[in-house]
Amino acid sequence: MPPIRVARPRRFLVCEPRFFDVKYAINPWMRDGAPVDTVLARVQWETLVRAYRAHGHTMETVEPAAELPDMVFAANSALVLGGRVLGARFHAPQRQPEAARYAGWFKAAGFDVHEPEEVCEGEGDLVPVGGFVLAGTGFRTTPGAHREAQELFGVPVIGLHLIDPHFYHLDTALFALDDENIAYWPPAFSPGSRAVLERLFPDAVIASRDDAMAFGLNSVSDGRHVFIAPQADGLIEQVSRRGYRPVPVDLSEFRKAGGGIKCCTQEIRS
Ligand code: ARG
Repeated sequence: MPPIRVARPRRFLVCEPRFFDVKYAINPWMRDGAPVDTVLARVQWETLVRAYRAHGHTMETVEPAAELPDMVFAANSALVLGGRVLGARFHAPQRQPEAARYAGWFKAAGFDVHEPEEVCEGEGDLVPVGGFVLAGTGFRTTPGAHREAQELFGVPVIGLHLIDPHFYHLDTALFALDDENIAYWPPAFSPGSRAVLERLFPDAVIASRDDAMAFGLNSVSDGRHVFIAPQADGLIEQVSRRGYRPVPVDLSEFRKAGGGIKCCTQEIRS
């Protein structure tokens, strides 16, 4: 029998996809050329927000901007730990103005925002698990930003090298199930980084390539419920066997921009 999993209520910041579209290509998913159904995207996003609310999570929203079609991907805007905010510095010029918009939201909400000196794409590459932070690099966030995060939060930051351009952010290849365990797709990582993950999480859930390509690892777990892409059926079955409750939410339109559930969700950890 798997253990009883306990949910912890979360506070999430999201950005309505009023202006969401694929207008430039800064990752391989965006090069597909499939047009975005913007009406469907909005319906899918609203379903996600409703699912979070139905499971007791608190939702905050930041105002979208017409000239920033990727602003819906709130996870890239910051890492918030213990009430401290490390803001963003985006790699792509097209996304750079998002940083100030999100920083403005955090300041208005009463947070001090530490602006990073190096490229830092928030929870896209910085994933807290228990007492430390797993940190991706290779495509976006730099090792220098990992050091900035460690200095600001005073928690160990463990650098991991991403090697597959389809998995350009850490949160596309790995997610935290709870404070103790993760799910991930090993081939997204360099051999050394894989060895680190095996050492830290010997009992991790290992996803298949199909589930990873379905954005199954771009999931959000509250410790019990796992908000997950319905196409990631193998992973859904694996987490169910471990005692978690999958909550399938289809964000297929956002995949055309290289995003999914986690990308749309910024957690405010006070
Ligand atoms: N089009 C966006 C980009 O390439 C997608 C961001 C997805 N966000 C994430 N947290 N993985 O930057």
